[in-house]
Amino acid sequence: MARSLKVADREKTAERLLNSSADKFYDPEVDIDWAAPLAEDKYYIPAHRSSLYGTALWDGLSEQQRIELTKHEVASVASVGLWFEVLLMQMLVKAVYNTDPTTRHAQYALTEVADECRHSTMFARMVERVGCPAYGPKRYVHQLGKLLPTIGYGPAMYGSILVAEEVLDRMQREAMQDDSVQPLVRMVNRIHVLEEARHVRFAREEVVRGMETMGRAELAYQRQLIALVGFFICRSIINPRVYAAVGIDPKVGEQAALHNPHYRDTIHWAGERIMSFLDEVGLVGNPGMSLWRKSFLVR
Ligand SMILES: [Fe+2]
Ligand SMILES: [Fe+2]
Repeated sequence: MARSLKVADREKTAERLLNSSADKFYDPEVDIDWAAPLAEDKYYIPAHRSSLYGTALWDGLSEQQRIELTKHEVASVASVGLWFEVLLMQMLVKAVYNTDPTTRHAQYALTEVADECRHSTMFARMVERVGCPAYGPKRYVHQLGKLLPTIGYGPAMYGSILVAEEVLDRMQREAMQDDSVQPLVRMVNRIHVLEEARHVRFAREEVVRGMETMGRAELAYQRQLIALVGFFICRSIINPRVYAAVGIDPKVGEQAALHNPHYRDTIHWAGERIMSFLDEVGLVGNPGMSLWRKSFLVR
């Protein structure tokens, strides 16, 4: 059952986050040198985080093909991140629609939308710069996603935002410190990590507040919804079409990744922090458990 955590005053948190946003933010149009040449010998995500790392398919790739695969993987991660950011902007705008705009928390939600607008532009620009398709999620997931701003609200809405943000955040934090990774990608990650820290704080407090007054039937809905969204996020991060870039049949590559213990560990590791929080507030439980396990976020 849900345990109640201590939560700070909503307006005070929003005020602090607004000040921090005014103080430190990036404009990817001017803060990133998009014309800088790409390093030919650098990976685009750390090799050990590739979805095929450690498999027979990985062993069969040359060094150049491995780099090429991580390039398409980073394009998939960024374009799926962008897809989810566009959904979360819609959800935040919907929350603002029903809130007194003179409150600090409504104003912070708008500020977060502004951050995500810049991030989505930045991710799009990065995909374009490295010369990959904007893979996004599979087509049916793209279609299903349109429902989320309609059916998502409350703790599952903020909780799903957190799953996407924190899973991506953990991967980006590691890659930005890894000098085997392309400098452009590391800079994009650094900018994103810095601004996401505020979003994480805001959403975590909203989750705790929303859980304080939750009835049984509502809890079941919220648990099911967040597990479903968490599952689709994890399954979508790597679009199987990336494998074709190195001559691997997308279906074969996808099956290899889903059965790859290294890749399962990567997802689990990326979700560790957020899952322990969601568990603590009571959002991880039935009827959602089989989906959490299938997502690899829960073992
Ligand atoms: Fe973002
Ligand atoms: Fe965010």
